[in-house]
Amino acid sequence: MIRDGVHLSLWQEKVKTYKPVFESVHSQKFDVIIVGGGITGIATALALQTRGKNCLVLETRNLCYGTTGGTTAHINTFLDTPYNTIIDNFNLEVARHIAKAAKDVIKKIKSTVDTFAIDCGYEDCKAFVFAQNEKQVDELDKILDACIKVGVHAAHSKDIPVPIAFLKAMVINDQGKFHPVNYVYGMAAAFEKAGGIILENCRLIKADESGELIKAETEMGNFQCDHLVYATHIPPGINLLHLRCTPYRSYAMVARLKSGQYPKDLIYDMADPYHYYRTQLIDGEEYFIAGGKDHKTGYEQETDACFESLEQTIRTHFDISSISHAWSSQYYESSDGIPYIGHLPSHNEKVLVATGFGGNGMTYSHIAAEVIQCIIFQEKNELIDIFSPSRLKPIAGFKNFVEHNFDVVKQLMSKALSLYEDKNFESIPPGEGKVLKIDNHPIGVYSDGVDSIHIVSAVCTHMKCIVKWNTAEKSWDCPCHGARYSIQGKVLNGPADHDLEYIHHSVKENV
Ligand code: FES
Repeated sequence: MIRDGVHLSLWQEKVKTYKPVFESVHSQKFDVIIVGGGITGIATALALQTRGKNCLVLETRNLCYGTTGGTTAHINTFLDTPYNTIIDNFNLEVARHIAKAAKDVIKKIKSTVDTFAIDCGYEDCKAFVFAQNEKQVDELDKILDACIKVGVHAAHSKDIPVPIAFLKAMVINDQGKFHPVNYVYGMAAAFEKAGGIILENCRLIKADESGELIKAETEMGNFQCDHLVYATHIPPGINLLHLRCTPYRSYAMVARLKSGQYPKDLIYDMADPYHYYRTQLIDGEEYFIAGGKDHKTGYEQETDACFESLEQTIRTHFDISSISHAWSSQYYESSDGIPYIGHLPSHNEKVLVATGFGGNGMTYSHIAAEVIQCIIFQEKNELIDIFSPSRLKPIAGFKNFVEHNFDVVKQLMSKALSLYEDKNFESIPPGEGKVLKIDNHPIGVYSDGVDSIHIVSAVCTHMKCIVKWNTAEKSWDCPCHGARYSIQGKVLNGPADHDLEYIHHSVKENV
């Protein structure tokens, strides 16, 4: 299995094998084409196929290549944007609908696991949130109060299941955890059994929306469909949603605990950014998973230091015997705190999208599947308006919207200005990359430390911001909308759909 970075996650390494049935298919017409083979794409495809729609899933690389393979897979009704913020940004009724939808997701995942006998280590659990200073205590009280108002079962707790000092804590019942990749594989198998088709290594090159049917040109032929769904984390091309979603990276680490006391539940502190903890049992072994140290993509100079800082945090609180995995992953935050699910603005009305899930991809992926099937089957559902990508919220999220786009403009304006001319590639440490300016052109130079230098254009092919080097995942990351590229300039993550220009590969002596 390959992923969008150099570090395999726990899920991508400890995984059952699954290979989609089809390696190619003849050009034909489908009811729905879903682009993206992560949890959102496959959950949506399974929901539609089992209701009689004939679906095709296109995945550029392999299933769970992106964020689904890099998540820490907390299934919760406790959301990153807490209900008090949703009430403030929208209203109580909206917050209640979202809380109910999140609770329904937990039931849906459990019934999917049962119905299709998916061996993904699903377990019910609780979630604990704890405050460590007075400011956090105030915030925790507000979060708890709002949980109760919207019907999420939460209460104060005297204890938390980890050895960390705290002032006040709350517990939320009825949460869940599982192995996300094995879960997606199980859904993929059920989808194919129901007649659906998954094509891996099949990139969508172009979608022509001008006719009655949408024409999809792909690396494996041309297909037609009534509806096209972008479940690609962020849609490709240039769209309003790129202005409204901010990319973040989060760091995860897996450890063995000397005590053998692995916490069963989901646990969150209230630091900014917060840390999160949980355990997963895989093939009889307990794995303690910690995460945090989030930052905006492309805004951290030393991404390796995020791993070091996370390790330091967990070693402060836990007696660690070994660390087996460390990886980072990307997510998108919407400016008003809730996802965009529905019609993709400025496209044919039959082109749909789901994005901006924040750190709640497990929950929102299934809400997206529900909303998208209601739109396609023309069924009423309050969630359609709530999550509409065209919703107008001039107040909610305005500050985040302005801040994010001010940063983007700064990145565009500062293009290459702060870079210095340097032809001395010897200054680049082995295994590292650097953005330099040669004859006024920003270039990304990577040295493998042995004898090779790879040089790419440092101008992102999406909207021409300058990419930054990500030392933790050995990639070129764009700080504007989160596109990421490999050392050779190949697209790892959208929204870019074209590789960086590859300028040069040479042994050092010949540069
Ligand atoms: Fe938009 Fe790079 S991702 S400019």
